[in-house]
Amino acid sequence: MIKKNLIAILVLFSTGIFAQEINVIPKPLEVITNEGEFKITDNTKLLINITNKEEKEFAEMAHEILKNATGIDTEVASPELNNFKDNILVQINNPKSSELGNEGYTLNIKNDRVFLNANTTAGLFYGVQTLWQLLTGSGNNTLPCTEITDYPRFAWRGLHLDVSRHFMPAEFIYKYIDYIAMHKMNVFHWHLVDDQGWRIEIKKYPKLTEVGALRTDREHLDWQSRKETIKESETKKYGGFYTQEEIKSIVEYAHKKHVTILPEIEMPAHVMSALAAYPEYSCTGEFQPVPPGGVWPITHIFCAGNEATFEFLENILTEVMELFPSTYIHIGGDEATKTEWKKCEKCQKRMKDEGLEDEHKLQAWFIKRIEKFLNNNGRQLIGWDEILEGGLNPSATIMSWRGSKPGVEAAQQGHDVVMSPVSHCYFDYYQGNPSLEPKAFGGSITLKKVYHYEPVPEVLTESEAKHILGAQANIWTEYIPNGEHVEYMIMPRMSALSEVLWSPKESKDWGGFSQRMDAQYRRFEKMGVNYAKSAFQVSAQPELDPETKTVKVSLSTEAWKPEIRYTTDSSTPGANSTKYVSPFTIDKTITVKALVVKEGEAMSKPLATDFLIHKAIACSVSQKNESSKYYPTPEYALVDGIRGLVNHGDGNWKAFNGNDMVATIDFGEVKSFSNVKVGFLQKAGAWIFYPTGITVEVSTDGNKFKTLGKAKNKVNAMEPGNLLQDLKVKKKSKARYIRVTATNLGTCPKGHAGEGKPAWMFVDEIIVE
Ligand code: ACM
Ligand code: ZN
Repeated sequence: MIKKNLIAILVLFSTGIFAQEINVIPKPLEVITNEGEFKITDNTKLLINITNKEEKEFAEMAHEILKNATGIDTEVASPELNNFKDNILVQINNPKSSELGNEGYTLNIKNDRVFLNANTTAGLFYGVQTLWQLLTGSGNNTLPCTEITDYPRFAWRGLHLDVSRHFMPAEFIYKYIDYIAMHKMNVFHWHLVDDQGWRIEIKKYPKLTEVGALRTDREHLDWQSRKETIKESETKKYGGFYTQEEIKSIVEYAHKKHVTILPEIEMPAHVMSALAAYPEYSCTGEFQPVPPGGVWPITHIFCAGNEATFEFLENILTEVMELFPSTYIHIGGDEATKTEWKKCEKCQKRMKDEGLEDEHKLQAWFIKRIEKFLNNNGRQLIGWDEILEGGLNPSATIMSWRGSKPGVEAAQQGHDVVMSPVSHCYFDYYQGNPSLEPKAFGGSITLKKVYHYEPVPEVLTESEAKHILGAQANIWTEYIPNGEHVEYMIMPRMSALSEVLWSPKESKDWGGFSQRMDAQYRRFEKMGVNYAKSAFQVSAQPELDPETKTVKVSLSTEAWKPEIRYTTDSSTPGANSTKYVSPFTIDKTITVKALVVKEGEAMSKPLATDFLIHKAIACSVSQKNESSKYYPTPEYALVDGIRGLVNHGDGNWKAFNGNDMVATIDFGEVKSFSNVKVGFLQKAGAWIFYPTGITVEVSTDGNKFKTLGKAKNKVNAMEPGNLLQDLKVKKKSKARYIRVTATNLGTCPKGHAGEGKPAWMFVDEIIVE
């Protein structure tokens, strides 16, 4: 007890005196900083006792990593009883430390020696990653005297990559594995199969790659607008695949870097590429080409009633298992529309024979059959969370992507779970303001949002929580055409995720992390990585005072101690523009343009935000109908002077699902005005429609209202695209209260994919002038 307290005091004392935090991401579990440093020189040796292949590979890797950091070609030698001084001693613990587990390490850096210990070569490898970071942080081949004890919070620390929508050549996959390893992450989920391309050579079925890996090249078009029938004149093809030889070398490389490759072979849907090659395994047997872009919904599916389908899939999986030693094999299972199964005689017969009451049960039967095959071959099945529907063997593991809820259900049912929710882990979503970013899938997942992700939902009991193996980020590549762009989407968000997954929950500290990111950005630069600087974008937010009805503008970023410069006169800001110190008051409609300057250089393009000052700003608004909790907005969103953009999840839109908006503004006193405008969005593809119209009523007492005017929407509900419209009632009036009713279209119109289902209505602002 006393000893423990003493250590605690020493930790406080030492971190207090040598206040600087060591610069490592993910943050190590326990660090004691001491005085002094160890310098790596031409004479420094890497001492390691090599007794097997793993240790030999580790020694080569460690030598290379230290050389990369220091430029010094450190000699690798055997440890002797008296040669530790001035050298780096690397040892496997014997006996093993019970604390460190399979991936932990201890690193003890003294003035005249460095000791790195672990139970495994994986642990040693992570210790060397820490050394590399300390060296790249110092820049002068010195290591600060520290004692580090470190091991991960979660066993599954993954990153996925879709190589179907866009093919990433083998050379890039090696780099991708490097990025995973440098973040002390350990799973590479390789999404090898999807509708738009089959990317793995299967010897028994050569057409999978001869036909399935190639599609009509429509790279010049947006992903969603590639749907039209392919013309004969379109002869150019896009594609690529990995040969089995390439895959073997990649798997071997990953193994050396302690990264397990999880191969994903999609089934029963997302398989148009496979069915283009072998249409006989579909329900209809008809040939359909590999689609060059977005198709939705995906109705093409393997026929579950045909025995030959299973022979085909088992033969493919057999070759996959020969290539990939991973215990888990991912079989997809997501987003299978079962309309073809409903129409197929063979599938219907299967359901009858097996006593399956609906098509969900047929999918469950399909997955269980594949699971049995994998289990008989000593492997475990993992799939997207849809595989829970219709029942699943407890031995199967699920990947929770449609939020965390499926993961909670699965863990409560006793399944192991890997968390990968769209809310925090979809790195194909925007990481900054869409106006400054390359086109992305949608959404908004910033660096800070990733950092604040907690993989274990609070509702789980301690024993249920043990089923959460960890988490991973997914990178779907519809809008990511090449490796450089992949780097942009993962860096730096994977740095944040690595800390979520490695470091203890209790040590979460955004300030410390964003400070340490400064060194991480320098490492990315040294590596030549195309990392995103989105964290330096300046966001301008209104701070409303309901008492004085005034607006202050506050500027913020996700970068450490940024130097923010801004303008309010529409000019482009630069290093000499006004320096932002604290929120400033505005009293007229203006555009704020702001950016971060570092050493005289702009860190991103300026972000422009329009602030609209009108008579209802910061007034209280009461609503009769609740807006949807799925689109949360700030309290004064309808009267905050900030307009919504076409990205309907930007936090400025109040969303109504099938119901009307009835909002009453209270000025607090009688005011005169002449124009009431209400802003709406239409995005028919996302089931968002203009209202049929608005009614504006006024009152002086808040009880008796009289109609001031009405405005009707004239745009067709099926009009496609991202449309914005203000509906207006222009009439001079005086009142304390204004009640605005926006009438929802009700249901999606006839002929729309959501026909008869509740229509969404999105409102951003009620402007009173
Ligand atoms: C998925 O995003 N369809 C797993
Ligand atoms: Zn069928």
